[in-house]
Formats: sequence, structure tokens, C-alpha cells
Amino acid sequence: MPNQGHFQTYLEHCQQRVNIALNKCLPVEDPPEHNLAEAMRYSVVGGGKRIRPIMVYAAGATMGVEEGTLDAPACAVEMIHAYSLIHDDLPAMDDDDLRRGQPTCHKAFDEATAILAGDALQALAYEILTDKTCTTLPDSHRLRMLKLLTQASGARGMAGGQAMDLASVGKTLTLEQLEAMHQLKTGALIRGSILLGAMCKPDINESELNMLNNYSRCIGLSFQIQDDILDVISDTETLGKPQGSDQEQQKPTYPAILGLEASKQLALEQHELALKHIKPMGERADTLRQLSAYIVERDF
Ligand code: IPE
Ligand code: IPE
Ligand code: MG
Ligand code: MG
Ligand code: MG
Repeated sequence: MPNQGHFQTYLEHCQQRVNIALNKCLPVEDPPEHNLAEAMRYSVVGGGKRIRPIMVYAAGATMGVEEGTLDAPACAVEMIHAYSLIHDDLPAMDDDDLRRGQPTCHKAFDEATAILAGDALQALAYEILTDKTCTTLPDSHRLRMLKLLTQASGARGMAGGQAMDLASVGKTLTLEQLEAMHQLKTGALIRGSILLGAMCKPDINESELNMLNNYSRCIGLSFQIQDDILDVISDTETLGKPQGSDQEQQKPTYPAILGLEASKQLALEQHELALKHIKPMGERADTLRQLSAYIVERDF
């Protein structure tokens, strides 16, 4: 496995790459009457780990796909993610004022602009995936990728998970219910990011896709468990979002249901399981192994 320093360089490379691509895709100018484009840029450009684009690049690289082909799906998943964060922070949802170290979109602009910026980012994600991406891929393949992203973000994916999250406030969920919710609200887009990257190889075989599918379910869950843990143990400055927000709003989280230590243990178990799923892929999947480790070791 490459060492940590090597992986850090890879992360930074992917971040820079997707930032350039995002900058090119985002609308630049608003008419005098509104500032929708400005709000979209504000929410995408300022910060963020870019972990989902990194997943697209890493899964694609594992399959031998060249980076140029991966820019469009990388931008598309980050735009869906940015849209989900804007809406997640709204007063009707988590009612948070800070995101990525700056005022949330509805604070910097207004609620209506934030809702529309989210809507428009979602639409732009699909536009990018259909217009610019994978020009060498057959239409049938692109359609399959489009369907994957719509499922990851819709009622059977992120949006459905967010609905479960809101419906569960103040309630005690079973572990099964909690896992199902996390798999949808966060896991679905993470799984989508890994699979979109891999599917940029047109002739990818189903057995490899299956391994990556299983791997992505584990890292999707460990990612949200770690997010729940950091909400308890980190601080607002490091996180760039309000620490303690889950507890304040009586959100069902892993630490709330299992306690901190058991939650940390579970995240590590998911990491180990993720590694197991991609074992047959050998050395070429080393970046995916580092990625899984990063998810459970990160402190923001
Ligand atoms: C935060 O995601 C929201 C969750 C799904 C847990 P990230 O932790 O990836 O947020 P950014 O993009 O780095 O700000
Ligand atoms: C949000 O989960 C998942 C999304 C789909 C955005 P959280 O509500 O825990 O995300 P943070 O902690 O606000 O980033
Ligand atoms: Mg939320
Ligand atoms: Mg939130
Ligand atoms: Mg959270």
C-alpha cells in the first residue's frame, strides 16, 4: 500500500483537478434582479474535502480510466452533494448557520435563493453528466450512469434518507433503522461516486462492479458514522460547521444509540470489511484502501 504522504498528495491532486473543472462548469453571471449564480458558486467553491470526486477519480483509476474522462462525473457528484448540504442546513431541516467555515447559503443570501441554488446545482449535475462527460462512452452506457446518479440522489437515495432523518428527530431508532437511514442519506451518493468512476470503463465486468458495490456500502456507512462521531468529539472551528448540532436537535446518530466507543469500533469494522471486499483486486486497488482508512481516521 502507498504510504500516507503519497495518499495525501493524491488527495490534493484530485482536489485541485476537480476545483478547476467545477469552476469551468458553474455559471458566472447573474442578471441584475437576482444572485442565483453567485449563491451556487458560493456554496460549491468555498471549501469542502471533495471526498466524493476523489472517490470517482480513485475508482476510475483503479479500473485504468484516464482522468479526463472522470472530470464530469466528479463534478456531477460534488454538485449533488453541495445541493444536499445547502438544503440540509435550511431552517426547515437542520437549521445550521455555518458550513465549510462560512455562513450557510441561506444566511449569506436568503432562504429562497438557497432553495433555488440547490435546485439549480442538482439540474447542473445532470446536465454535466449528459452533455460533457464520457464522450467516448456509448449512449446506452451514459444512460446507465445517469440512472445511477438519479437513484443515488432521489427518494430511494439521499432525499429519501434525509426524509427518514427528519422523521426520526426525537425518536429512538433501532440499529437496523439507523443503518438504513445512513445508507440512504449519505451512503447512496458515496456508492454512486465509486460506481460512476468505475463505470467510466465501458467494459467493466459485473464481478468487479459487485466488489466495488460492496466496498462502497461499507465506506458509505463508515463515513456517516465518523461524521456522527465528529459532531460529538470535534470542535466548530475544525469542522467548519456547528459542533453538537445533532445532539441539540435530538438527531438519531450512532454515538447517541451505541455510545462513542462502540461507534468508533463499528466504523473500524466497516473499514476492515471494505478492505475484504476489494481484496481480490490486488495492488491496483491500494488507493481505495487508503481512502477507506482516511474516512475513519479523518478529524473533519
Ligand atoms: C458532510 O459531508 C455531509 C455528510 C453527508 C455527512 P462532507 O464531510 O463530505 O462535507 P464537505 O464536502 O467536506 O464539506
Ligand atoms: C447530512 O447529514 C447528509 C446529507 C445528505 C447532506 P448531516 O446533517 O449529518 O450532515 P452535516 O453534519 O450537517 O454535514
Ligand atoms: Mg442533516
Ligand atoms: Mg446537517
Ligand atoms: Mg452530521
